[in-house]
Amino acid sequence: MLMYSLSERGAMTTIAEHPKSGRVIKVLQITDTHLFANSSGCLLGLNTEQSLNAITEEIRGHHLPADLILATGDLVHDGTTAAYRRIFSHLENFGLPVYCLPGNHDEAVTLQRTLNDGIIKYTEHAQHANWHFIFLDSTIADSEGAHLTGETLEQLEARLQSAPDAHTLVCLHHQPVPMGSRWLDTMAVDNPEAFFAIIDRHPQVRGILWGHVHQSYDGMYKNIKLMSSPSTCIQFLPRSDDFAVDSANPGYRWLNLYPDGRIETGIERIAILPGNINMASNGY
Ligand SMILES: [Fe+2]
Repeated sequence: MLMYSLSERGAMTTIAEHPKSGRVIKVLQITDTHLFANSSGCLLGLNTEQSLNAITEEIRGHHLPADLILATGDLVHDGTTAAYRRIFSHLENFGLPVYCLPGNHDEAVTLQRTLNDGIIKYTEHAQHANWHFIFLDSTIADSEGAHLTGETLEQLEARLQSAPDAHTLVCLHHQPVPMGSRWLDTMAVDNPEAFFAIIDRHPQVRGILWGHVHQSYDGMYKNIKLMSSPSTCIQFLPRSDDFAVDSANPGYRWLNLYPDGRIETGIERIAILPGNINMASNGY
């Protein structure tokens, strides 16, 4: 596998520099918000709602307007209806379509039941201009690990067959490739060969995007961009064999999707952490 790295902020290029590219789809990835039923809920000492509020302010200052938001799992930490109401309220305030995926801390049934047919969506796919977004559930019930079931893989294949001419971004919660972090990679997708065999049959796939890893990652699989985003709360130390917290601040990913299939992307982080994190923690 050919890998490469980008600087975290990516290549910020204005639309005006690509006069032939037409309409660009502007996407924000907000992931691993880990909200609780109670607004005082903390993860390793950090209030996750206050951290999300800081991220929201950063987005409002730098990356609006946008076309849509991808919320790639672990929306809540405790799986409660109250926590989903809380996170949906935050996301609805952007006034954009929000596509949700379940993570290993989510309760997919509760997530779905708490939706109100508004701009927050839990769906298998969506199309914006000539870009197709496919959402895969990588969770395993009562496990932190990840697996793409036969049904999910059939869904992926069918969705790709249905729109061969649309540039495609495939989104899931867990990483489909190793992050080089022993403890985190015990929770990677456990059947990546089946996944990439399907991807290989469909050249319209331009990018694969995930959450879960609480860190920024930019790589390549053949000519497909591989991307993860920092969490909006605590960060995991990259390439650590054991659980370790990173001192990097919370962040989010932005993507500009061009009509010709190009992806520009980068990471933004808040400048000041709204609280303190227990950096010595060995788990949560
Ligand atoms: Fe998470």
